[in-house]
Amino acid sequence: MAASLSQTWPLENRPPKAREPLTVKLFADLKILYHMALKPVRGKDHAARLESFYSGQATNYDDFRERLLHGRQELWHAIETPTDGTWIDLGGGTGSNLEYFGERLSQLKKVYLVDLSPSLLQVADQRIATNGWSNVETVEADATRFQPPSGPVDVVTFSYSLTMIPDWFAAIQHALSLLRPGGMIGVVDFYVSRKHPATGHRRHGWFNRNFWPLWFGSDNVFPSPDHVPFLHRHFKPVHFVESRGKVPYLPFVRAPYYSFVGQKREDSN
Ligand SMILES: C[S@@+](CC[C@H](N)C(=O)[O-])C[C@H]1O[C@@H](n2cnc3c(N)ncnc32)[C@H](O)[C@@H]1O
Repeated sequence: MAASLSQTWPLENRPPKAREPLTVKLFADLKILYHMALKPVRGKDHAARLESFYSGQATNYDDFRERLLHGRQELWHAIETPTDGTWIDLGGGTGSNLEYFGERLSQLKKVYLVDLSPSLLQVADQRIATNGWSNVETVEADATRFQPPSGPVDVVTFSYSLTMIPDWFAAIQHALSLLRPGGMIGVVDFYVSRKHPATGHRRHGWFNRNFWPLWFGSDNVFPSPDHVPFLHRHFKPVHFVESRGKVPYLPFVRAPYYSFVGQKREDSN
């Protein structure tokens, strides 16, 4: 079962980072901001566009995204680690989320980290080698098509990748087909609410519903009003949190994000 929503999460399992001088940090941020806000994204297909976006920022990716992509650690702790199980992280990027497993990583038989950006996967490979994680494998593949050699798996996660996958509904349906009955999907991502959301779900006002898709859209990130209803329709929800998080260098606004854990029903394909 998923952990209770009201529990206090343990501190990160990461080792403390050495403090960087402010100028080094600022320069790294400017580089990332240039890639996010100014550099044109080019490419003949989705994979080429992703690599065009990420290749220049792969080495500084983790530090900036730690301040932008909220709720990832909470999601990792809301999913029980299945002993001897298989976990697929679709759109896993640099693999920084793997550090949220801590000791639990060794309980898993296999983790597949799937992504279409070779530059980000290279950072993930370095992280895996540094940590000596022998049960983790990176795969350069599309999240809507990747097939593990082992058959049905226990957990599939999307951490801020669903908003970047054009065929996001195909990605969720593919995740459903990868999971064993009773297996878990975990998603954390930006979103906007529908104008008239389901009872009990948060409603965002006009500004948020229009501003965030416009703001993130220039980076080919598409916060959607439909992810949350689609996930609720296809999985049995066991954890759902709607929240807002800070955005570096935008002091007066908070970006809406959600975290969802759902179980594959016994009768779904
Ligand atoms: C915002 S990043 C998040 C990375 C990582 N999950 C994290 O939490 O830091 C989105 C990731 O999704 C990947 N991605 C986007 N579309 C994809 C697809 N169709 N198949 C596989 N990966 C994809 C990108 O390359 C990128 O690494």
